[in-house]
Amino acid sequence: MAEQEGVRRRDFINVAAVSAAGVAGIGVVIPLVSQMSASADVLAASSTEVDISAIQQGQAIKAIFRKQPVFIRNLTQREIDEANKVDVSSLRDPQSLEERTKEGKANWLITMGVCTHLGCVPLGAGEGEPRGEFGGYFCPCHGSHYDTAARIRKGPAPLNLQVPEYEFTSDTVVTIG
Ligand code: FES
Repeated sequence: MAEQEGVRRRDFINVAAVSAAGVAGIGVVIPLVSQMSASADVLAASSTEVDISAIQQGQAIKAIFRKQPVFIRNLTQREIDEANKVDVSSLRDPQSLEERTKEGKANWLITMGVCTHLGCVPLGAGEGEPRGEFGGYFCPCHGSHYDTAARIRKGPAPLNLQVPEYEFTSDTVVTIG
């Protein structure tokens, strides 16, 4: 009985933590929404605008889109070359870097930060985080390795990190969603 209560209490703490994270995500979006007209509110609630001007080559940032993490990465030429030299037909989820980026902007790799196995947040976007055996992202939950195009290369994840709908609204601003 005592243990059952302990489990319930832990569940509650987990739920509370998730709720707090959800609220933090909304906090990022609300300041943008409040400056827009009423009709734009609906649109803004489902999209996220990100200034990418400060992301140096080789760096990535985490943004929030519909309460989920998004990785925005500025690939180096070496990382682009590594992605391009892979035989696409040998991949579990065959896609080229070109198919996963916008024309003329192969260095901007924008993906959901959600492992396609069971939904953990992979490492590799934060400064100093391990990027796995293929230099992209690494999911420590069950050991999935993604390459520099965020394609699954090793481990249990069935698919590449998902590329969300997005567009460049200027050279330095991306609107996701
Ligand atoms: S959730 Fe990422 S490897 Fe299982």
